[in-house]
Amino acid sequence: MYFLIAEMESQLPATSKPSNEEETCPKTPETYRKIISTLPREDGWKAHGDLCLYQNFWCYSYGIEGAMFAQDHYNAQPTDIFLCSFPKSGTTWLKALTFSVVTRTHFDNSTTPLLLKGPHNCLPLLEIDFCRKGIKPEPGSLPLVASHLPYASLPKSINDSGCKIVYICREPKDAFVSMWHYTRKLPHGVQEPMSLEEAFELFCKGVSDFGPYWDHVLGFWKASLERPEKILFLKYEDMMRETLLYVKRMAEFMGFPFSLEEENKGKVRSIVEFCSFENLSNLEINKSGKYAPHIPVENKTFFRKGKVGDWKNYLTREMAEHLDEITEQKLGRFDLSFDDV
Ligand code: A3P
Repeated sequence: MYFLIAEMESQLPATSKPSNEEETCPKTPETYRKIISTLPREDGWKAHGDLCLYQNFWCYSYGIEGAMFAQDHYNAQPTDIFLCSFPKSGTTWLKALTFSVVTRTHFDNSTTPLLLKGPHNCLPLLEIDFCRKGIKPEPGSLPLVASHLPYASLPKSINDSGCKIVYICREPKDAFVSMWHYTRKLPHGVQEPMSLEEAFELFCKGVSDFGPYWDHVLGFWKASLERPEKILFLKYEDMMRETLLYVKRMAEFMGFPFSLEEENKGKVRSIVEFCSFENLSNLEINKSGKYAPHIPVENKTFFRKGKVGDWKNYLTREMAEHLDEITEQKLGRFDLSFDDV
């Protein structure tokens, strides 16, 4: 099994040798950092330093370094399944659900590693874990890998190898409000967390971790229309409404369909209930555990309300209308919209 603890050291270890390819590749961590130092920057969200603009998306420098490294070295296997998302769109939930589906013949709800590790430490995040730990997929390992990278910036081997991608997106007003709350809970050192209004302005301009939001969603949406057999596009709101249906669909898509017998024995329902916000957020590991030994993020930061439409408690009518207009303008002509939540 392929369980990894992410480490967010500020630098790649100089001696890191993640794969044989690296020995023939002239790029070093220093090369990446040199490139990153020349990128356009914004100090907006005040979460993990400046956001930098790389390949048309904004990201903290450690994420870009990881992305560059993954683009140069990640050797995707045809059996890999990528779990992709814009941050705060349901990544934690998707990780727990897919992990439970894929490992259900090994574990049940009383033995699953989710109990001891939490969703984020049960499967790796490409742009952090692969880069930091020098991991590479091994035959027989858990096929699930998560990523927040935009579709166009995923390592080329992911498409070339024909592996599958499950993408979860979330209505942008809720995604924004969730991101604002999340960022405020991160340790900020001497800096003050930013106000909702400041964050809103940046988000609308596209400046947010892995933003612009609309480009992220659109990249995967278009790809899912072109290659529906390889890319499953899910919406958080649909999943909340009909979790059972979408979990079955996801399992089938991933190549781990539920048998009739499993369905009759309540296996799908049991996974859905285990991965529900109420259950997951009340597990001890998610109440008091840390994302990783050196990462200053507590697991509980990934669980807030888990509701659809919570934006109504934070955004003014003008703000909501403004965000809706941008969404309609950017996504409407591609026939992508969200329920009025
Ligand atoms: P809110 O801040 O709106 O509550 P991500 O996992 O991509 O970081 O997204 C975090 C959002 O998903 C948070 O939204 C969090 O509460 C919600 N979430 C976490 N676990 C969930 C679950 N099991 N079911 C539904 N939503 C969940």
